[in-house]
Order: sequence, then structure tokens, then C-alpha cells
Amino acid sequence: MKFAKDFLFGAASASYQIEGAWNEDGKGETNWDVFSKIPGKTYKGTNGDVAIDHYHRYKEDIKLMAEMGLESYRFSISWARILPTGDGEVNEKGLEFYNQVINECLKYGIVPFVTLYHWDLPLTLEEDGGWTNKRTADAFVKYAEVCFKAFGDRVKHWITFNETVMFCGLGYLKGAHPPGIQNDEKKYFQATHYVFYAHAKAVEIYKQLEQYGEIGITHVFLPAYSVDDKKENILAARHANEYETFWYYDPILKGEYPSYVVQQLKENGWTPSWTKEELDTLKRNAENNDFIGLNYYQPIRVEKNQEAVSSMEHSRETSTLAPGNPSFDGFYRTVKMTDKTYTKWGWEISPQGFLDGLHMLKERYGDIKMYVTENGLGDEDPIIDGEIVDVPRIKYIEEHLKVIKRAIKEGIHLKGYYAWSVIDLLSWLNGYKKQYGFIYVDHDDNLNRKKKLSFHWYKHIIETRGEEL
Ligand code: BG6
Repeated sequence: MKFAKDFLFGAASASYQIEGAWNEDGKGETNWDVFSKIPGKTYKGTNGDVAIDHYHRYKEDIKLMAEMGLESYRFSISWARILPTGDGEVNEKGLEFYNQVINECLKYGIVPFVTLYHWDLPLTLEEDGGWTNKRTADAFVKYAEVCFKAFGDRVKHWITFNETVMFCGLGYLKGAHPPGIQNDEKKYFQATHYVFYAHAKAVEIYKQLEQYGEIGITHVFLPAYSVDDKKENILAARHANEYETFWYYDPILKGEYPSYVVQQLKENGWTPSWTKEELDTLKRNAENNDFIGLNYYQPIRVEKNQEAVSSMEHSRETSTLAPGNPSFDGFYRTVKMTDKTYTKWGWEISPQGFLDGLHMLKERYGDIKMYVTENGLGDEDPIIDGEIVDVPRIKYIEEHLKVIKRAIKEGIHLKGYYAWSVIDLLSWLNGYKKQYGFIYVDHDDNLNRKKKLSFHWYKHIIETRGEEL
């Protein structure tokens, strides 16, 4: 079986992780411009001031994408380039940059798939309470409208937010992302609510503009499985799915929050302050979502947490998402299992976990269209005789594409695959050490680009539409 002609083979990136030019052409400062410079926050103090200098080298990069045969490129817009203070004046130079990127993609027939928010928030808004302040939600809606009007004639695929659970969870529970707050459940749930509200409003405006493209949201997809069939561990897995998955998908696709979580938030005093108007906005727009984007890296294996501790009392091990930690509320813990395979950063490799998870989503949400908006292997790539021989990445993507093919056969509505990442880029917390790209960037030699083995492999997959998989 070949992948259908309208299935998009792509790859992805995000503004802060590639662009650099952090203070050029009128761009405003962002939360990450500041946070990454606080000592101890990132691996070896790396930051996105220069990143891989895509801002100045986008033509070269998009040319390489075209050479790879990429059908679609997912990238994000830096809000602070467009509206430097978040909700003030529009910066024409910012519009100009993304117009050039979009036009360059179209020149090669590459479909631009645009994310509006991939974590870099204008500093003015962060300093005013960030996502815990409704001002940020209103500002986002304004920013989204500016982008739809400026680029919507050529961009027909929009993602509002990337991985709400990550920027809110790491921002307000773990303190590992800006604003660096720990253990504030009240703020965490409030922030997620304003994100969902901002999403719904942006979707509504997009539909009113009648640009005839599609719009959705991207979540990290972390399906939870019990480590065994003990009743208490099965309940732990349910709890994890309610909080990590249903809390994020229900308000988007059903227009209301999952009652299991809502009830517990009430008991704990964590219910966000939400108005009828906000809840109605969610409800009214549930039908307006065209798709859901899934960033899938790994499932989580969980068991009932027997210790009376919550997440911050355990330090993270090798990486933010590596197993071995209790959940924020101490209800369950994630477990590293002896019969599973893990990456160097401790993330489980499980294509089967994805397939099972897709069926779980279908059961709950029906036939919603889905794109895999990220999937890939973070590794330290071996270089042999000057060649980047990233065989483990090829294997990883190959195995995931195989289950995607199977999922489609089994009736899952999947319309595209975006590998993370198109090119080696800045990992938020792991610097340049953790590589994901098809294209290597030489940090010892003027950020020169070089094709990896996976570049040629992916090109072949696209050319043959995955027939050999
Ligand atoms: C996703 C993000 O969560 O994971 C990306 O959307 C990120 O921006 C990717 O780079 C990989 O994360 P990490 O921590 O391995 O760099």
C-alpha cells in the first residue's frame, strides 16, 4: 500500500528553536529571551539568540527541504516579531519576514503549515501574568487575526497552539519553562483554560473570515497505560489519561471539560475562574475544529503512587519527560520498565503505544481528522568519516510510519506526518546536544548545513509514497 496522494509528508520546526535574530528588525523580547539567560535553566546556558540563524538562512534551508522532496513544512511564527508588545502596534518587518518564508515554500510547492504559538510569548504579556491573565488570551486572538489577514491567502493550514500541557505544566508546575513557577495548580489550570478559550475565539474568527483553509490545535499525545492489570494501577492509568489527555482534548473537541477532572478540581480548590461567556465560546466552537495535531514521542506507563509525595519532591532524571516521577497531584507515578526500549534521554520507543492510543482517541472523539505534527528521535548522531549516519533515527521513523499506515487501514483518519525536526535545532532544555533533524548543523563551522543519511532515506520514502514500509 502506498500513502494516498493527499497525505502530506512533512517535517517541522519552531521559531525560537531555529530563527535567532532575537533583537532584529523590530522584534520584541520574549519570555524565552529572558528565561534562557537565567543561570542553570538550560543545558550549558544555551539560548536562542542565534539558534541556527534560520532568520538569515531561510532560503538555503527551504531549498534543502525542497531537495528532500518535502511536501509540507510546519513552522511557527514568533508573536513578538508581529506584535512586539503582544497587543500593540504591528511590526511590518515581522510580516515581511514570514511573507518571504511562506513565498519561498510556495516557490517549491511546499505547503506551509503554520503554528501561531510555539511557546515564545511577548515579554510584556508574560510580565503581566502571562497565560494566567485573560489579557494574554485576548491578545492572542488579535495576533491570530493579524496573521490570518496577512498570510491567509497563501496559508491554508493553521495550528493555534503547540502542546498546552507542556508550556503550562513546565511553566506552572515544574518551573522548568517560563515563567518558572513551581507547584501552582491553581495557576496551571487557569492558564490552560485561557489557552482553550483563546483557541476557540481564534477558530471562530478564522471561520468568519471565510478563508477556506483548516484550523486546529496540536497536543502532545502521551497515552497512559497501566504497568499491569491490578485494579489500582488501571485506575492510575485512567487518572493519567483524564488529566494529561482528556483535559486537553475535551474542551476543544467536545466543548466541555471532563467531569472526572472538574469534580476533583472543585474538591481541591483548583477550578479556574471561568465565565459563562468563556464556557459558551468553547461549546459553540467545538464543531469548528478541522483537525487535531498530535505530537507523539512516547506513551507513559503508570502505577498507583504509594508514597505521599508530589512531583517537585523528586528531581527529574535525565530529561523532563523521562519516567520515574510522581504526577503533580501525587496520584500515580510513571515507571521505567525492564522490557521496554528507551532513548538516551529515557523516552520510551513504542510505535504500538501510538497505534493503541489512536484507537483510544477515535473511541472518545469519533472521526476527527488528525495530523502527526511531530514525531522523531532525539539522539547524539554518530559521524563516521564525515558522514552523519543517523541509522537509529531512520529506524525510529520507519517503525512509526509503519504503524501509521496500519492505523489508516484500521480506519483512523490521518492525513499527514511531520517529522520532528526538519533540521537540527535548539532543544529548549538540552541545547544542541540532542539532535532530531534530517539536516545537520555544524556549530564548529559557521553553522554549515549538511545532509544526514536520514535526509536521503526520507526523500526516498516520499518519492515512493512509503510503498516499501
Ligand atoms: C516537543 C516540542 O514537545 O518536543 C518541541 O514541541 C521540542 O519544540 C520537542 O523540541 C523535543 O523536545 P526535547 O526536549 O527533546 O528537545
